[in-house]
Amino acid sequence: MTITQENFKQKAAFAALDYIKDGMVVGLGTGSTVAYLLDALSDKKMDIIGVTTSKDTSKKCRALGIRVVDIDTVDHIDVTVDGADEVDSYMNGIKGGGAALLMEKIVAKNSNTNIWIVDESKVHSVLGTFPLPVEIIPYGSGKLFQKFEDKGYQPVLRVDNYNNPIVTDTGHHIVDLHLNYIDNPQELADYLERQVGVVEHGLFLNIADVVIVGGEQIKINTRR
Ligand code: 5RP
Repeated sequence: MTITQENFKQKAAFAALDYIKDGMVVGLGTGSTVAYLLDALSDKKMDIIGVTTSKDTSKKCRALGIRVVDIDTVDHIDVTVDGADEVDSYMNGIKGGGAALLMEKIVAKNSNTNIWIVDESKVHSVLGTFPLPVEIIPYGSGKLFQKFEDKGYQPVLRVDNYNNPIVTDTGHHIVDLHLNYIDNPQELADYLERQVGVVEHGLFLNIADVVIVGGEQIKINTRR
């Protein structure tokens, strides 16, 4: 990660502040780009109610004094701001690089507006450069793995520094599919959703309403 890239992430995060007002229920994504947003919300002492997408974000919020409530205690989420690993020309994306895709998708699907903040290196015309994270149930995961291998998806089980499978905040494993080029994201999403043992996948299709891209200039793309 270069200094410039970090600066572009920060710019995108700051631009998202325009969409957040005091009193709002705000979904708070996961990752290094969102971390800049959390810092800014805390610096500005914004009076928001946060709904987090990971234990990591909850921990950061606690340290910064940002109020967090359980998703089931709010009747709506006004706006969610999250990062993404890759975004295409249709504002579809791949998420889950930080292993938080399940909670991120639950929060996103229950939000009135979804805003993604990314640096310009994440924008590609077609998805697939970033390996697609798939969250799976540990039981029988070898069978699922074999299925993905037979399909030519080049699955890789995500492991920690001790070579143990990583365990997500909700107790699952992650397999990353090395696809390079996803020519029909909807078809792939449908296929993955049909597989027993798949809890959720990192294809976020038709979810983002606004994508803020940090670069030398800020670009804001809105779903029409
Ligand atoms: C976590 C995610 C993140 O939003 C994604 O990985 C982007 O992270 P970063 O802002 O650190 O590049 O999907 O599961």
